[in-house]
Amino acid sequence: MDSAPNAAQAEFWNTGAVRSWVELHEDLDRQYAPLSDQALAALQPAPGQRLLDVGCGCGANTLELATQAGPQGAAVGVDISAPMLARARELAAEQGVANASFVEADAQIADLSAGGAPFDGVFSRFGVMFFADPVAAFANIRRHMRPGATLAFICWRRPDENPVMLAPYRAALDVFPVKPPKADPLAPGPFAFSDARRIEGILADAGFGAIDIRPHDQKVGGLSFERALDQALRIGPLAGLLREQPEVADAARQRVAEALRRHEAADGVWLDAAVWVVSARAP
Ligand SMILES: C[S@@+](CC[C@H](N)C(=O)[O-])C[C@H]1O[C@@H](n2cnc3c(N)ncnc32)[C@H](O)[C@@H]1O
Repeated sequence: MDSAPNAAQAEFWNTGAVRSWVELHEDLDRQYAPLSDQALAALQPAPGQRLLDVGCGCGANTLELATQAGPQGAAVGVDISAPMLARARELAAEQGVANASFVEADAQIADLSAGGAPFDGVFSRFGVMFFADPVAAFANIRRHMRPGATLAFICWRRPDENPVMLAPYRAALDVFPVKPPKADPLAPGPFAFSDARRIEGILADAGFGAIDIRPHDQKVGGLSFERALDQALRIGPLAGLLREQPEVADAARQRVAEALRRHEAADGVWLDAAVWVVSARAP
């Protein structure tokens, strides 16, 4: 696979940290389902369609798309993470979803014609913010869509609007002796699409029309306190800091536990999430 332009991301999604993503995907899927439902509603997948899930990870949404496409249609998940795709293929087999397939490729540059293009619809849940060259990536995706096909995805809004991503990190930050450098807000990563005007510019430059970007806010979670704590320590920005400075893990754990207790209800831990629901049309 040629993932040269996104080599750093390919490294991240294929080594150490990715194990937690694979092990915890069921919790993540449950937590994020109400958010991906927003993009599915914008996409309106229909029987007989060929659908693409970009940055599909462990494939929960690809399987959903395949089910909605029915036996006359199909869904293809594309991702640069071999371990996540292995889990996605396992899930497809376990659930008997025969019309879902998975391609290990960099969506920015890959030729997806063998994977089922032209697509009638393209979906993504948090899988399109990691491209080194987003305009090139979306132009490549657009080239694999039939004229008039819909692109629909969700991406995170600003970090301060997303306690679900940042509350544990902020709660623990002062126990780390070495503070992380200030992040470049445009660098590939979960918050690279925080600015709606930037998304609009990227999609327009990539050749899309009928661009619609709307905010959606929702509390997500419902995990038990122990599972929410485990996830907070193993996935996201705090997990990265802990990998670099494991000597303060106990102190960080205590801070995060205190923070999560404040968001615990009878039915689990719930945190605010803020996303953009984006849709656009291939001309
Ligand atoms: C935050 S995860 C989301 C995974 C999945 N969509 C979900 O919601 O569970 C981001 C995914 O994008 C994938 N990804 C990042 N850069 C990519 C690229 N250039 N081409 C294809 N997939 C990419 C990662 O490997 C990872 O699986």
